[in-house]
Amino acid sequence: MKRYETMAADIEESIRAGVLRSGDRLPSVRIACRNRGISASTVFEAYYLLEARGFVRARPKSGYYVSAGSRRFPPEARSVSPPPEESVDVAVSERVFKILEQTARRKAVPFGSAFPSPLLFPLRRLGRYLGAAARTLDPWSTVDNLTPGNDALRRQIALRYLSDGIRVSMDEIVITNGALEALNLCLAAVARVGDCVIVESPTFYAALQSLERLGMRAIEVPTHQHEGIDLGALEQAIKRHQPKACWLMTTFQNPTGSTLPEEKKRTLVGLLARHDVPLIEDDVYGELYYGAKRPLPAKAFDNAGLVLHCSSFSKCLAPGYRIGWAAAGRYARAVAHQKLSTTLSSSTPTQIALANYLEHGGLDKHLRKLRQTLEKQQRVFAQAIGHYFPAGTRATRPAGGYFLWVELPAGCDSLEIQSRALKLGICVAPGPIFSARAGFQNFLRLNYGHAWNERSEWALETLGRLAATAHTRPAA
Ligand SMILES: Cc1ncc(COP(=O)(O)O)c(C=O)c1O
Repeated sequence: MKRYETMAADIEESIRAGVLRSGDRLPSVRIACRNRGISASTVFEAYYLLEARGFVRARPKSGYYVSAGSRRFPPEARSVSPPPEESVDVAVSERVFKILEQTARRKAVPFGSAFPSPLLFPLRRLGRYLGAAARTLDPWSTVDNLTPGNDALRRQIALRYLSDGIRVSMDEIVITNGALEALNLCLAAVARVGDCVIVESPTFYAALQSLERLGMRAIEVPTHQHEGIDLGALEQAIKRHQPKACWLMTTFQNPTGSTLPEEKKRTLVGLLARHDVPLIEDDVYGELYYGAKRPLPAKAFDNAGLVLHCSSFSKCLAPGYRIGWAAAGRYARAVAHQKLSTTLSSSTPTQIALANYLEHGGLDKHLRKLRQTLEKQQRVFAQAIGHYFPAGTRATRPAGGYFLWVELPAGCDSLEIQSRALKLGICVAPGPIFSARAGFQNFLRLNYGHAWNERSEWALETLGRLAATAHTRPAA
């Protein structure tokens, strides 16, 4: 922790413990500097942080005071979704499209969006790399960069795996148009119409849409809101349904934010290897960790080439550039064939620009700042939920990413909240879009990847009020 964070954490602790009470004045900046032997700017940073988190308020010309009813986190959600049932045909697209259309409105409060604020990315710097790549483009590079993709970019991606201690050869990397294309190509490479595929419950709606489009059946397996998929239930589902693949988010799952602990990932890979079931591992949020190091993906434990690891730069560096990849193990050739027969290859200047940025642009510095910002925003956001939402509300506290999975009191209808909120210009992602059975009716996924300001505070207060007055909806 930095000095100002340590100081803020000490004061926060004193407020939580009741040592500092509502209305108490914090020590003046001069006294705090003297007592702690730190600079005035460090004290100011600490006080700003406490203010942003809602613990203190500044009074002009008077100092900082502990806020009335200082904010607390809502209780943490840690339950497991219901047991598996039969496999189902998927028909979610209509419901999802309607909601996605709404999230694309620029003026709406973007709590329902799947993207963090575009202002968090080094777009100018990237633009310079893109301009240079286009200006100096070797005419033959359009041929050289056909699928599996630009060599320099695949090498940089392989180096990033290596720096995390994961052995991935650049030969198994196929460059794609974002992670979503990678996931779809992997799915098409390992399963056919009518096959069963295992997903988490809840799962990212795009996984359900892909299954629907390819005519595959979903088996939704119970998933713990903190520790990811239930391995016992997974093994039962494999024995019962003989799935052709698992499509899982093992780190910072969307929507719950759950992460399988390392040992569980190792066990998962062993289990799938015993049953010869490929794992399509969606790891788009892996770089957005708040801890000391990136959680290893399941791919790190794979010796059989059975894990098709998919990721992209969309969430951590370059949204809109649409560059992702699959490190597809023994399926790399099949995935490359799928890519060649669908979209042929990804944009050449964009691949070159990203390769050069990865080599020289300062990705790690950018990522450190991004992670810190997101972690701070999670605190402010979660505390505001604790403050404004009705009693009985729970929320996850993921160790990375930018989503909170909020469980409203039983009976709250998140679809009703979503449609009422939208009329007021607030967009949210209701629980039922994350399930083939339209379950999770009293859940919302909220995106905290946008700057906290008066409007977000108003929007959360409004959502809290809507949640307190929403009604039960009969099961779909
Ligand atoms: C879990 C998950 N996987 C994949 C994607 C798609 O990533 P990309 O934008 O790189 O295609 C998203 C985007 O929302 C996501 O949330």
